[in-house]
Amino acid sequence: MDLAAVGTDVEKVIATEAELSAKILELAARVDADYKDKQVLLVGVLKGAIMAMADLTRAMQTHIEMDWMAVSSYGSGTKSSGVVRILKDLDCDISGRNVLIVEDIVDTGLTLSWLKANLESRGAKSVEICTIFRKPEAAKVEVHVKYLGFDIPPAFVVGYGLDFNEKYRNLSVVAVLSPHMYS
Ligand code: IMP
Ligand code: MG
Repeated sequence: MDLAAVGTDVEKVIATEAELSAKILELAARVDADYKDKQVLLVGVLKGAIMAMADLTRAMQTHIEMDWMAVSSYGSGTKSSGVVRILKDLDCDISGRNVLIVEDIVDTGLTLSWLKANLESRGAKSVEICTIFRKPEAAKVEVHVKYLGFDIPPAFVVGYGLDFNEKYRNLSVVAVLSPHMYS
């Protein structure tokens, strides 16, 4: 879906398609280099990470495995509740494995710090994080992000997998949602 198709629902583009794909290529090269001699399991966090996962893995030149989790830290709307629930768990056992979590965005950091600790507690050999966006000013807990796309201001953004009430995930760019959409 192009920017024109969403009209005034969004007010400012944060990342264009070209910026997104250039950044993904950069991240993929780093992940390739770091896991060259190790088997990596990429764990995508549904549903926001679908685009990042699809693009990142296709830009990689080493064999990977993929699994998915769905967690919920938001109700419907734009505020993190801080309560994390597993809606869909991994299909595979990760004990002894090198895990790379692929996430769309780190906002308060509550979801990822919880998820990282959860995966570590299952006996993974390593757990690292790749996120396309991060809002440093919204952080409530520190989470170490090894592979970062962009730091952005603490506004609510949509597109490239990121939704508002399940819409806009298929917007090809990432843009700030207009406040009139939720106020
Ligand atoms: P956190 O626990 O506050 O870091 O929130 C993480 C999750 O909230 C992300 O995985 C997203 O699904 C969602 N989220 C946070 N900020 C945004 C945003 O600006 N747009 C869309 N979803 C967001
Ligand atoms: Mg979401």
